[in-house]
Amino acid sequence: MSFSPASGGSPDDVAQVVSATVDEWRGRAEPELQAVVERGGVVALPALPFEVTDRERALFTTSITDEQRKSIYLRAGRDGVSGIAASDTDRVTVSAMIRRYAAGAHALIDGLFPGYRAADHAIGTSFRPRAIGDVSSGQALSWRKDDTRLHIDAFPSNPTHGDRILRVFTNVHPATMPRSWRVGESFASMAARFLPRTSGLPPGAAWLLHRLRVTKRPRSAYDHLMLQLHDLAKADATYQRTCPQRSVDFPPGTTWICFSDQVMHAAMAGQFLFEQTYRLPLTCIRDVDASPLRTLERLTSRSLA
Ligand SMILES: [Fe+2]
Repeated sequence: MSFSPASGGSPDDVAQVVSATVDEWRGRAEPELQAVVERGGVVALPALPFEVTDRERALFTTSITDEQRKSIYLRAGRDGVSGIAASDTDRVTVSAMIRRYAAGAHALIDGLFPGYRAADHAIGTSFRPRAIGDVSSGQALSWRKDDTRLHIDAFPSNPTHGDRILRVFTNVHPATMPRSWRVGESFASMAARFLPRTSGLPPGAAWLLHRLRVTKRPRSAYDHLMLQLHDLAKADATYQRTCPQRSVDFPPGTTWICFSDQVMHAAMAGQFLFEQTYRLPLTCIRDVDASPLRTLERLTSRSLA
């Protein structure tokens, strides 16, 4: 794994990337690594590849995804994948591979951080054969969807009310292409910078969005702020260029874990990635004070859940 020096401010305020020697898709409890992720750092496991068979690797092509989609997706608890353009046989092979990745990620998280109860909180698993910047996937169409800009993750249609978004990634590029990220300043610094430009939810808006099925449940004040922070950071070109940040390259065979609702991150380059998403209630989190919900409540002096 390689890092660039931090730029644009105090190196201490740029997200930590901590490398650990875990080489099995299970592991023992690692309270120190849990503290790293819960405080907004990234845990990188450079010796933890996801093994694929030759038959699976033969399906590592961009043409296996639907033209309009950026990934092949397996929703937790469902059998079938979406976003795939393949024969029935290949679909079965890809589904089994994605399911195996999900099981590996659950075992890894349950081993490292037992309190998270991974399988209970899984949302879905993605396989991304497309290169970042492949415009046919629609990624480059709007600044809001442009994940080469530093951002925190927030779900527009699926309000979390303060639950955490935990993600496990593995670079499965068959040759040597790293997944290149930028990571940015701490959540608290980013939030303090952009909160003055945010506004409250208009009366009735959360109810109406839910009623119109734009959201799966009413948006909370927390969700409304998180979406605005996502947008304000992405829309600010000067911030993107000059804020505290560093580049990190994750080579093929590397797995990494972070709370993507907390780490300012941008995916700059790479192709062929697995991603597992969890949504964790705060009752699973040890360092609740470091969570985005509590941080925003401290900064705004009000209850936001
Ligand atoms: Fe993201």
